[in-house]
Amino acid sequence: MIWIELNKTSEKPIYQQIYVRVKEQILLGELAEGERLPSSRVLATTLNVSRSVILEAYDQLIAEGYIKSKQGAGTFVESGISLEGFPSGVLPPVSVKTIDSKNNPKSIKNNLIDFRSGVPCLKKFPRKKWGSIGKDVYENIEASLFGYSSPEGSEQLRNVLSTYLDRTRGINCHPNQIIITSGATQAFTLLAKLLVKSNSEVLIEDPVTKEIPEIFIERGAKITPISVDEFGMQTERLTTKRKACIIFVTPSHQFPLGGILPIQRRIQLINFAKKTNSYIIEDDYDSEFRYSGHPVSSIQGLCPERVIYIGTFSKILSPSLRIGYLILPNSLVEEVKNLKRYTDYHSPTIEQVILARFIKDGHLEKHIVKMRKLYNKKRAFLIKCLKNEFGDLVTILGASTGIHLVGQFNIKFSTKILDEIKLNGVNIFPVENHALVKGHHNNKLIFGYGNLTEEELEQGIKRLRNVIEAEIAKKY
Ligand SMILES: Cc1ncc(COP(=O)(O)O)c(C=O)c1O
Repeated sequence: MIWIELNKTSEKPIYQQIYVRVKEQILLGELAEGERLPSSRVLATTLNVSRSVILEAYDQLIAEGYIKSKQGAGTFVESGISLEGFPSGVLPPVSVKTIDSKNNPKSIKNNLIDFRSGVPCLKKFPRKKWGSIGKDVYENIEASLFGYSSPEGSEQLRNVLSTYLDRTRGINCHPNQIIITSGATQAFTLLAKLLVKSNSEVLIEDPVTKEIPEIFIERGAKITPISVDEFGMQTERLTTKRKACIIFVTPSHQFPLGGILPIQRRIQLINFAKKTNSYIIEDDYDSEFRYSGHPVSSIQGLCPERVIYIGTFSKILSPSLRIGYLILPNSLVEEVKNLKRYTDYHSPTIEQVILARFIKDGHLEKHIVKMRKLYNKKRAFLIKCLKNEFGDLVTILGASTGIHLVGQFNIKFSTKILDEIKLNGVNIFPVENHALVKGHHNNKLIFGYGNLTEEELEQGIKRLRNVIEAEIAKKY
């Protein structure tokens, strides 16, 4: 198998990029001694470059002794060239082509397929509506809004949010309890600054988005992992010898395993928080996309004085907006406002005003309905592909909500296998990457499907199967 990444905007000539990449693969041992390279004609067609460019690269490789051409038989890798410790990664990944020298390369889809989770369908961002509201806002808002505003964010946005969240998420709050942040990530950082004193304990569900415990650790917190099952955090395991200060959960759609926290556990969680004087951080990042029934209600609505709710527009609209929000108990509002002020004064005002209009005029809810349909279709298609390719070898977990699901296999995904998967054109991460206690989740892969087409989903699963099949064959 030969794997070539071309950057057509690079100043480096194309022949040189091909030459460097083939050379690198030979030195790394990825192209084995004696392996046959695709013919110049086939490679030219696959990479969509002229044949003379390929001949130029091959000539250079022949001249330097990396490959040899045998009359009438083809071009082959020379022997004795693999170099231990040779550093890889020469070219930036812009367009990725994979060519299987044994099969007809024309039948192979070319792009790297990225199952990274948490990316919504970027092509479906409501550009027109957003653009037309944006034009109107820029042309007509009062000039004062181009100046400094207050740290809690646009009043218009906080007003529409409180009504919208009451209706859709059972959230009980006054607009004054809302602080607009730069995504959920900034909300975590502000809370870590406010609540974590050196050595305070943060109880976090495990597995969890990797960066979240890191934010608390950076402030000196001691992290206690609380394991997760198919229903989310195992709240019967909540215990603390110290004065716990934070319990972090994603109750509406556990990330990454997908459980939905049942009401009994929610109550257990609230009782624990009350008993230990802790705050529950409820991270509600993508529960608008629930595929059967309605989105589950928030914990915040059950206990507003102990729960800090965090929402984001990264999944329902776009991560590039960097708009999220905190809903705080009244007692914490002033302190968080001050922290926000010291951090970045406030989040950009104009985008907030556009978003407020977008929500108020009903476009957000329409967009969510449209996207839910689209994601539901992608989700069903992905499950079908996984079942077609892997049958009983895969168990699907946490697919009822959101824009990712988890596939559990009967093999462990070592770094070596994951590298092999990447070499075959698929970027994918195991749940293990997000585990605090290591060793329990390396048989599970996270399939983000929001930003992939059906064609990419199908092709990605096929490529994955090829690698997994080869791994299983090695074992027996
Ligand atoms: C669990 C979880 N919460 C929240 C977020 C959203 O972060 P942000 O709003 O900063 O984009 C993510 C990002 O992927 C996430 O995994």
